[in-house]
Amino acid sequence: MAAPATPSAAAVGGPGGVTICRPDVDDGVDCWRLAANTRVLDVNSRYAYLLWFRDFAATSIVAKAGDAVIGFVTGYRRPDELHTLVVWQVAVAEEARGCGLGAAMLDGLFGAVPDADHLEATITPDNSGSIALFTAFADRNRADIRRSELFGPELLGASHEPEILFRIGPVERRNPWDEG
Ligand SMILES: CC(C)(COP(=O)(O)OP(=O)(O)OC[C@H]1O[C@@H](n2cnc3c(N)ncnc32)[C@H](O)[C@@H]1OP(=O)(O)O)[C@@H](O)C(=O)NCCC(=O)NCCS
Repeated sequence: MAAPATPSAAAVGGPGGVTICRPDVDDGVDCWRLAANTRVLDVNSRYAYLLWFRDFAATSIVAKAGDAVIGFVTGYRRPDELHTLVVWQVAVAEEARGCGLGAAMLDGLFGAVPDADHLEATITPDNSGSIALFTAFADRNRADIRRSELFGPELLGASHEPEILFRIGPVERRNPWDEG
């Protein structure tokens, strides 16, 4: 089956004058720093973020205030299930949290992959912010969430919480003109 086309994510308006757009390769450096600053995410090498934005920019998004990266989402299409968008990491700078930026990036990214009908993410059970973010995404899209353990400590290491897979969908694509 041919891979569905993924149009580039044009800049979309974010909350409070923030720009949400498709990442450039050099945004990878700022995203690597932002990931480290969360002190929650598994931080990958600087090289991994650069490579990600070379190869998976069409399924990733960054949020900028001026030139400063204040949020990002990295994602990919599952190779065996091309209509499923897997969100790998989401981060919002501490000072920008709680203003809807995480939600705006998820909506912007899902909007930029118009043939995706499911979204997947893994979340550790102690991450209430992330659970709330993805639950709210499902609610906004009137979609179900199926939860199952994807990887446990026997694979991740004893000090790592299990990664719970949230599979959200099917996501209805609503016509804004139908909204009252
Ligand atoms: C998780 C994270 C990305 C959320 O970003 P954010 O911009 O603050 O989220 P939003 O303001 O868009 O909130 C989206 C929803 O989640 C809820 N929420 C966000 N953070 C929350 C928290 N810490 N506790 C409870 N609910 C929270 C909001 O109330 C909102 O729900 P609503 O639409 O029902 O009101 C951010 O806290 C973060 O970067 N955390 C560190 C990294 C991380 O844990 N990433 C996720 C794992 S991959």
